[in-house]
Amino acid sequence: MQKFYIETVGCQMNVLDSELVHSGLVQSGLVPATNHDNADVILFNTCSIRQHAENKIYSALGRLKHWKIIKPYGVLGVIGCMAQKDQKTIFQRAPHVDLVLGPGQLELLPETVHQLLEEKLQRNYVSQEIEIESGKKLLVSLKRQEHRHAEVIGSFRLFNPVRNPEARDNRFQAMVRIMFGCDKFCTYCVVPSVRGPEQSRQPQEILNEIQTLVRQGVVEITLIGQTVNSYRYKNGEKTTLLADLLYQVSDIEGIQRICFVTNYPRGMNDDLLQAVRDLPKVAKHLHVPVQSGSDTVLRRMKRNYTATEYRELVDRIYSTIPNVSMTCDFIVGFCGETDEEFRKTVELVQYCRFKNSFIFKYSERPGTKSAELYPDDVPESVKKIRNNVLLEIQDKISLEQNQQFIGKTVEILVEGISKQLETGEVQLSGRTSCDRIVVFNAPDNRLISQFLKLKIYDAAPFTLFAQQSEIVRIIRNRDS
Ligand code: SAH
Ligand code: SF4
Ligand code: F3S
Repeated sequence: MQKFYIETVGCQMNVLDSELVHSGLVQSGLVPATNHDNADVILFNTCSIRQHAENKIYSALGRLKHWKIIKPYGVLGVIGCMAQKDQKTIFQRAPHVDLVLGPGQLELLPETVHQLLEEKLQRNYVSQEIEIESGKKLLVSLKRQEHRHAEVIGSFRLFNPVRNPEARDNRFQAMVRIMFGCDKFCTYCVVPSVRGPEQSRQPQEILNEIQTLVRQGVVEITLIGQTVNSYRYKNGEKTTLLADLLYQVSDIEGIQRICFVTNYPRGMNDDLLQAVRDLPKVAKHLHVPVQSGSDTVLRRMKRNYTATEYRELVDRIYSTIPNVSMTCDFIVGFCGETDEEFRKTVELVQYCRFKNSFIFKYSERPGTKSAELYPDDVPESVKKIRNNVLLEIQDKISLEQNQQFIGKTVEILVEGISKQLETGEVQLSGRTSCDRIVVFNAPDNRLISQFLKLKIYDAAPFTLFAQQSEIVRIIRNRDS
């Protein structure tokens, strides 16, 4: 039996794609390997969002030269966003790679891997050199700038194999993609070119997939898309938006919690906020990246909103949805960002009181508008300082927010073991509906996948601590 191993970096799109690829390869007759060494096929599911992510992948590929010498019949493949972005360059920089296959070609992956395995077995390995020149495959989608929209959409093919619980980390949580690609074209971002045009999946197909997952034991669903709130499916007169979909998913018996990521600020309309407020199963947590608090930076980023509009949105979210938490993404050191512009971001963080923020230093991406239009002129040292300044402010806010939970009882879904304790007990961790992590001690791991009520006795910026003696089990029915 030939074995495969998948290495995954990047965002939830890639985590889900790796799960789907795992399912597809198992269906085609391969079996999962436990590590590189016993694998016949190694696939790297890659990310191009920042230069640093790509550098790490190229170094990891370099380290696999050795594996290829021991297993010349093995297949080393690069899939994911960097496959679509770098294409032939990957073969040049890592000549021992056999396959480069973009996110729009995953459907063709199992058969392509089998073709390569067979070709390699048939070939006489006289030298590594011969292999480098033949037996390679490049399958990618069309470039957006070079082809008609309809052709490009057709080249980013959707891959929806039957879901396989063995391919997931656990049996009770799963992601479901509701839309592919991105049409926002923020000037710094590679996603619209590597993931292609926005395409929303048919609602019934999404609901059927969720039904399948429920039969497999899933209680928490996360609907994902690069701009998930841009979801829009038109069928004749009827248009289904994300809010409509939330109502439909809520009606599925067995689903207990529904999350969705990631949101584009302009699409946060009142219907969506009200759906989050009114549907008890929908998590009271919204991730709405703002990127910067300065209007001039936002304009250079082409985000299509002002800082004031974003603050109004945050006010609207907090006043509509009781006990909601918000999280955010920021880019510091974007082209030409002055101290004054950065100060506006600091003010915005102080105003918005996010639960936590993901802060990134700007990384110039070849082929993007910002790389073409503006020099990457903020020194690395300044980017670092700004990153730390924001982190420090955010950490203080995170701690203050978490401290408000001390003495309160919260409801969590227990997700897994966070620590094995010397006493023989385990420390379990779970999440509240507002996405706060709670840890508590328990005799064993049997509470994993259960909903519990716990009393909080202490708080750190990213963790709430609860007491075991206060555990109250929740028996949930359809709409509680
Ligand atoms: N679709 C999501 C973001 C996907 S990428 C959205 O629009 O919200 C995740 C985060 O990576 C972004 O929110 C941004 O903060 C960061 N990012 C994207 N491109 C970047 C770049 N070139 N340099 C640094 N950070 C970047
Ligand atoms: Fe990138 Fe902007 Fe699309 Fe998010 S909305 S994926 S940041 S282009
Ligand atoms: Fe990276 Fe692609 Fe996600 S570039 S952030 S893996 S969509």
